[in-house]
Amino acid sequence: MGSGPAVGPVTAPDIGEETIRRHAAEALLRARARTAALTDCVPDPELMAQHSPLMSPLVWDLAHIGNQEEQWLLRAVGGRDALRPEIDGLYDAFEHPRASRPALPLLPPAEARAYAADVRARALDVLEGTALGGRPLVAAGFAFGMIAQHEQQHDETMLITHQLRRGAAVLDAPPPPPAPADAAALPSEVHVPGGPFTMGTSTEPWALDNERPAHTRWVPGFHIDTVPVSNAAYQRFIEDGGYEDPRWWTPEGWAHVRREGLRAPLFWRREGAQWLRRRFGVVEPVPPDEPVVHVCWYEADAYARWAGRRLPTEAEWEKAARHDPVAGRSLRYPWGDADPTPDRANLGQRHLRPAPVGGYPRGASPLGVRQLIGDVWEWTASDFLPYPGFRAFPYREYSEVFFGSAHKVLRGGSFAVDQVACRGTFRNWDLPVRRQIFSGFRTARTADDDTGPGAAGGNAYGAGHGTKAAP
Ligand code: AVJ
Ligand code: FE
Repeated sequence: MGSGPAVGPVTAPDIGEETIRRHAAEALLRARARTAALTDCVPDPELMAQHSPLMSPLVWDLAHIGNQEEQWLLRAVGGRDALRPEIDGLYDAFEHPRASRPALPLLPPAEARAYAADVRARALDVLEGTALGGRPLVAAGFAFGMIAQHEQQHDETMLITHQLRRGAAVLDAPPPPPAPADAAALPSEVHVPGGPFTMGTSTEPWALDNERPAHTRWVPGFHIDTVPVSNAAYQRFIEDGGYEDPRWWTPEGWAHVRREGLRAPLFWRREGAQWLRRRFGVVEPVPPDEPVVHVCWYEADAYARWAGRRLPTEAEWEKAARHDPVAGRSLRYPWGDADPTPDRANLGQRHLRPAPVGGYPRGASPLGVRQLIGDVWEWTASDFLPYPGFRAFPYREYSEVFFGSAHKVLRGGSFAVDQVACRGTFRNWDLPVRRQIFSGFRTARTADDDTGPGAAGGNAYGAGHGTKAAP
């Protein structure tokens, strides 16, 4: 599908309210067009069916999108009464686990669509009539941006449901651009010098609570893969017996891979000497030059160890993506501060697959790392933890209740992420066993010239990978 109108940066503090309103309305409109594209092509019985116990019926996502919008934009921002208070519980993700949702008395498709459309019409009304200064919830249009991101996140969830669903293909999109001429000659890794950088943000208007606040973090020197790990490289791990060798796996990962009988990424099947994969209802040979996708954290971690490397930490990933050694500051995106465009990143379900490794040279970071934004979510070594100074906003259930060692952080966004929900600071998280998500990875290693704060001389940032609030 097309990416719709570009949403410009909402960065200048003096940006006008009318401009913010237009950005917010465009982001909401683009999300709804995508929601419609994902649900209008599926007959009603299939919208109500469960295609995997890991996922909700699509009709649940549809009404949940409307219900979240109603709670935040109509009630919290607009001060309006509940339209249908009796359905709040049905669409509360914490009240009903995904597997139990098909048995709920959900709104049937026509009613779910009408409800979401009714909420939307009223939300645009609230947008017109609300002053966007003052209250933190609406400052710079935050609540509207948050709800556009929420809908786009569920659109990615619904795309995952499409990928899990059996039967003929119903979605289509043109292929991404082929790898550029220089892709084969790229250095395998890029050196990122040790030193402090600014992680997170305190200025990005629609950044979510877990991306805040900006803080200085010392990152010792490291090397990181120029491109994500490809299917061809991952196949070498398989062919080398990677799945049968406990040396490469953490104890939890080894127990998991044995228990579940994992032998290859999800959706892969071997036929003779060839690997095939199912992608949105089509079975095709695994393309060797595409980033590997649908691997869990345990698989990514084991591959990295097999390769004599490791997963990058979250701070390393963000420094590789945002640190500009010339400007001496962190950028919004690898290529600079401008919003994503189709020539810089594979986002927004514009293509239904990642682009071949080495793609999007115009999206490279200042140090030359490619495809950090878009294509595949990248597993990092890190647990999902709050930044120093974190404050839950506007609700604890977005991030705070997920902090801890159960979830690993993914960065960079996939081909299925809209640009409104993707930035250099954006943090995603999931359980280390998950692989129906559009997840891949790249690997890293500590540099020999490591000049971390533990090195002789010390520095102002404390010991280890410590943090300190930005001035
Ligand atoms: C941030 C993608 C992990 O889908 O569970 C959607 C986003 N939060 N509704 C998820 C979210 C509430 C969340 N992730
Ligand atoms: Fe949600």
